[in-house]
Amino acid sequence: MKNYTLGKSSVMIPEQVFGCWAIGGTYFTGAEDEKSIASIRAAIDHGIYALDTAPAYGNGHSENLVREALKGYDRDKITISTKLPTHLLARPDVRPSCEQSLRDLGQDYIDIYFIHWPSRKNDPIADTMDELMKLKSEGKIRCIGLSNFSRAQIIEAEQYGEIDVLQPCWSLVWRYQDNDSLAYAEEKGIGVMPYSPLAQGILTGKFSRDTVFSPEDGRSHAAIFQQPYFGQAVDFVDRLRPYAEKYGVTLAQLSLRMCMQESFITAPIVGAKRPEQVEDNVKACDFEISAEDFAEIDQMSKDFAYALPQFQNFFRA
Ligand SMILES: NC(=O)c1ccc[n+]([C@@H]2O[C@H](COP(=O)([O-])OP(=O)(O)OC[C@H]3O[C@@H](n4cnc5c(N)ncnc54)[C@H](OP(=O)(O)O)[C@@H]3O)[C@@H](O)[C@H]2O)c1
Repeated sequence: MKNYTLGKSSVMIPEQVFGCWAIGGTYFTGAEDEKSIASIRAAIDHGIYALDTAPAYGNGHSENLVREALKGYDRDKITISTKLPTHLLARPDVRPSCEQSLRDLGQDYIDIYFIHWPSRKNDPIADTMDELMKLKSEGKIRCIGLSNFSRAQIIEAEQYGEIDVLQPCWSLVWRYQDNDSLAYAEEKGIGVMPYSPLAQGILTGKFSRDTVFSPEDGRSHAAIFQQPYFGQAVDFVDRLRPYAEKYGVTLAQLSLRMCMQESFITAPIVGAKRPEQVEDNVKACDFEISAEDFAEIDQMSKDFAYALPQFQNFFRA
């Protein structure tokens, strides 16, 4: 397992991060707490010692599960990232929100504190960043990250404090940020932890063109899960199968490996609800895709993703 430091900080992450959204129980269906805790522990025991969560993931439930799962582990060897909710970016809301997360996580400090989404109410980023920098100087957070920010929004935020890591949406079927925030991060040496690297299961190859999601499953309204894009994405995954066979790996492992070998990506955040999924995904750390195959798959991925319409975001068509 390779390890990286984020931006100019001393915060370490391994080459995959465990994503704690699905275990929160909202959006994805069917999470069971016992399996969720077992999944977090399986990830850590495989060397995936970085966990990404947020208050929004089950209204604190995901953060509570992280607290439970970490009992018995050495805190200094774990990297925890959580998020400042987008409706709490106004100056008076920043500190209480951070303190609520610290309570829910049962921790004294957060390693990476992300702004979850840019403000939807024109809260001045100068105020939000100023409060975050104070929390950083007090040791309550170790570094600041921005999630779902464009290049222009990152440059604006950087006027008021250090940004060490970004969290954009990125997968082989979703790459709107390639020439925007991701190119900027690569140029400036900012870490990148992309989310939904399996396109919420599409890239595991387990769905067919006809798969229907229940209305309670958030995927039923996510942009790439709408037709005709969903069917086209399933066809795209079929074109990856010969590569997975060549390397003797699953489609999940191939897709994650592609993500891990992209020059502008530090480590993908991979969600899972069950230890078996963790066991599958972690094996993406054990092989290398040749430069020739990487270039072919990367081109196929760009041909697919760059042809998609301009959706609002991953979750809304
Ligand atoms: N900053 C943001 O705005 C933002 C947004 C989204 C996510 N995130 C973060 O990024 C993390 C990952 O993103 P994500 O959960 O949206 O998407 P993802 O990692 O692409 O997909 C995770 C889902 O795929 C399925 N899965 C995972 N491994 C599998 C395997 N080996 N075989 C078959 N199915 C498998 C599971 O769902 P099923 O079993 O139900 O199919 C799992 O919940 C989240 O947990 C969260 O920490 C952040």
